[in-house]
Amino acid sequence: MNAHFISEIYLDDIESRGYTIINNALSKSLTAKLMLDCYRINPEFSVAGIGRKHDLHVNKTVRKDKTFWFDDSSQAQLDYLALMAKMRVVLNRSFFLGLFDYECHYAKYQQGDFYKKHYDAFKGRSNRVFTTVFYLNTPDSGGELIIYKPKSKQVEVCIKPQAGTLVMFESERFMHEVSPAGDDRYSIAGWFRMNASISGVIDPPR
Ligand code: OGA
Ligand code: MN
Repeated sequence: MNAHFISEIYLDDIESRGYTIINNALSKSLTAKLMLDCYRINPEFSVAGIGRKHDLHVNKTVRKDKTFWFDDSSQAQLDYLALMAKMRVVLNRSFFLGLFDYECHYAKYQQGDFYKKHYDAFKGRSNRVFTTVFYLNTPDSGGELIIYKPKSKQVEVCIKPQAGTLVMFESERFMHEVSPAGDDRYSIAGWFRMNASISGVIDPPR
């Protein structure tokens, strides 16, 4: 793990503004292995769902990416999960969050694919506390992650995906979207979860 993966700077960012952007968060070699893992499971990517419980459906007007939930079928996935387990410990130690697990999936956006403005969690209706997005490649154009200021239509930050960058933000606090991809865009979207009685149904479904 890179020394600065969990440095004070990033913890300060999270504390003061609720999100952080870490360039070169993981080694180039692990990033490359995760990318290769995506190519390996490429035929198994499936259209992502939206909604909850009885209202779960595929709606291509909201999101067009394809996803693949981690299934522990490669060393790269296990290595990534091990790093996130360390991150979870640090977050708990720093912020007393009581995060108890982490779930993640690969996501693939092809040319024109997008994910419209959304929240990853709603107060009292989800146990997702922290969102992570880790970029596996550097698309030539498009596919920016646009994060909005809390309770505002103003843009807080627009992030151009770059291989090795890890973005983390408070799931309930930030509306965000992915602008249409110009070419293939691969990432890992994940969520640290709280041990709440609201088990909810996750989005997209496993
Ligand atoms: C998501 C999401 C952002 C990104 O999967 O919920 O918002 O940059 N992803 O891929
Ligand atoms: Mn999201």
